Amino acid sequence: MRRITPRRLAPACLAVATVFAMAGAFAQTAQPAPAAPGGKIKVGFMLPYTGTYAALGTAIENGFRMYVQQQGGKLGGREIEYFKVDDESDPAKAPENATKLVKRDQVDVVVGTVHSGVQMGIVKVAKENNTLLIIPNAGVDEATGPLCGPNIFRTSFSNWQPGYAMGQVLAERGLKKVVTLTWKYAAGEQSVKGFKEAFEAKGGKVVKELSLPFPNVEFQALITEVASLKPDAVFVFFAGGGAVKFVKDWAAAGLKDKIPLYGSGFLTDGTLEAQGNAAQGLETTLHYADGLSNARDKNFRLDYAKTFKLQPDVYAVQGYDAAQLLAAGATAVKGDMTRKADLYKAMGSAKIDSPRGAFTLSKAHNPVQDFYLRKVDGRENKVSSVAVKALADPARGCRL
Ligand code: BEZ
Repeated sequence: MRRITPRRLAPACLAVATVFAMAGAFAQTAQPAPAAPGGKIKVGFMLPYTGTYAALGTAIENGFRMYVQQQGGKLGGREIEYFKVDDESDPAKAPENATKLVKRDQVDVVVGTVHSGVQMGIVKVAKENNTLLIIPNAGVDEATGPLCGPNIFRTSFSNWQPGYAMGQVLAERGLKKVVTLTWKYAAGEQSVKGFKEAFEAKGGKVVKELSLPFPNVEFQALITEVASLKPDAVFVFFAGGGAVKFVKDWAAAGLKDKIPLYGSGFLTDGTLEAQGNAAQGLETTLHYADGLSNARDKNFRLDYAKTFKLQPDVYAVQGYDAAQLLAAGATAVKGDMTRKADLYKAMGSAKIDSPRGAFTLSKAHNPVQDFYLRKVDGRENKVSSVAVKALADPARGCRL
């Protein structure tokens, strides 16, 4: 046996110390390792699968999966593996839920979510970890405003956009005095802000802003208050199960033919079956509509109906386009999701051939898109006109 002399020991100690030092440094800076090129791309859905927005979450996932299926189950040459968390539309649980996907499941991309308050928690986690985030619905203005980032993308809208479009429509119709009514959280408040900006710039006045906590659906007292104010019209933001209840309550209160009711299109999208006659004739503004006569939309609707035995809605379109946007990036980097700078660059400059009509992203990564005026006719939100063409969110506070 060779004797271990101090001279022989020194280099060995140095080597061991170096390894430990490297391991320590790695432990401090290690980020969750994205899937190795050649393995599957890991997609983490953080969506509501329970509560008032449950149907919206399912439609987004359906749309996303359908696009991937149409590509033979691969994006950028790699198969997709899905992970899922039910965010319950609960902002308090958002950081923990997002962290599960990013740290535990080590996903390459988070696709989420619907609720603006929950979105704030996801954006924070995505920014801290430089994880790619695609927002398939939540409109929270901050995500493509002061909190914008190279890794944050949205395929839906900012809360400001549909509200702004309706403000313009009603001002152009010569309405003067409007009351607003929403849930009291970012989606409702920012939607009203957009509405007010356009409406008041053209001479209208929002005379009262009413609200109730999310997801409360005890609308009666507020409906009575709106009636007592005798406005020219009311503008509302409600969506999902709450929108169904509100439209029915409004009609039941006998106000349907007395005070014109307008809203961003979430009021009547994916809800018409349940709203029935109470929704007939309602006008809303949104970046999707029934009756768009483009080939992409026709095929999308046929495939969706065949696959899910359901009619698609705006949420399904946004999910479908989230997958299209990811595909644009994954193809550009040939499936190597570690090439983040190239990935983000390709996604930022993508032109998405959407069922809503083709769109591009702003510098802040929010869709620049047409907003349609729609009118409920039977079970459809039929397109009446383009209310605002190529509307871009002002992206206030975004530095990119
Ligand atoms: C939101 O919270 O941002 C939202 C939820 C449902 C529909 C539209 C927006």
